[in-house]
Amino acid sequence: MDVNEIKRIDKTVKGWLRESRDNVLRKIDTRLTVNTKSSRTDLVTNIDKQNEQFIVTKIREFDPDARILGEEGSGDEVDSVAGHVWIVDPIDGTMNFVKQRNHFAIMIALYIDGAGVLGYILDVMGNHLLSGGPALGVFDNGQPLEKAADTPLREGLVGLSGPMVLHDDYHMVNIANRSLGMRVYGSAGIDIISVLRGELVAYISYLKPWDFGAGKILCETAGLKVTTVDGQPLGMLSSTTVMLATRKAHRDILTIVGQ
Ligand code: IPD
Ligand code: CA
Ligand code: CA
Ligand code: CA
Repeated sequence: MDVNEIKRIDKTVKGWLRESRDNVLRKIDTRLTVNTKSSRTDLVTNIDKQNEQFIVTKIREFDPDARILGEEGSGDEVDSVAGHVWIVDPIDGTMNFVKQRNHFAIMIALYIDGAGVLGYILDVMGNHLLSGGPALGVFDNGQPLEKAADTPLREGLVGLSGPMVLHDDYHMVNIANRSLGMRVYGSAGIDIISVLRGELVAYISYLKPWDFGAGKILCETAGLKVTTVDGQPLGMLSSTTVMLATRKAHRDILTIVGQ
């Protein structure tokens, strides 16, 4: 796909994100309909569903032959990475959205034949959009992103998954202790923005494709490492551990995980 076509898609997706954000902000003070899914901490609201329907409708109009992997069920059953695959997380950090009305993101990614083409993470309340991909570079609200310094674990903060730390999976307590401190933000999107900006040296969690699809494209384009927590390549269609990190912190963490 040539760069002009990628720029055309980029402009279009940014328009969808602006509209999605406006839709969310219009309803931010209204009473939400909140339902539980697999457990009492796994929530979905009317806004998650409306946002997903809105974005999926836009994608279907724009790219009718594509398949869509979405969290809340408006998309398709996607069992291969062939062709155009869009990945949509309509509200990432639903618990934060419900309890804080803050610290949540909207994420969209486009993969073609398994290769990341464009990724978007919009911090809705902060109004920060991280966007881009290998053909364009990474942008922070339209400005080229300043590359994060290659900071080692012992000189930086790490974003970790609360449950993984509580269960001490993969020596998470040790990883936290060797860093300057851990943060648990409750939205993969917000954590990944922090890694991209150099505010965290790593983010580690157990994630689904819609949680890491956009972040993988943006982080790899920005020269960061993206693997499973034990250093394997990520499968794009299944739940997996994910580590997004500076090169040095990635190496430091793999040494701890392997101990
Ligand atoms: C969740 C958030 C959270 C992460 C969970 C995700 P959701 O996404 O990103 O930070 O720890 O694993 O499921 O369900 O709020 O879109
Ligand atoms: Ca969810
Ligand atoms: Ca999510
Ligand atoms: Ca979600």
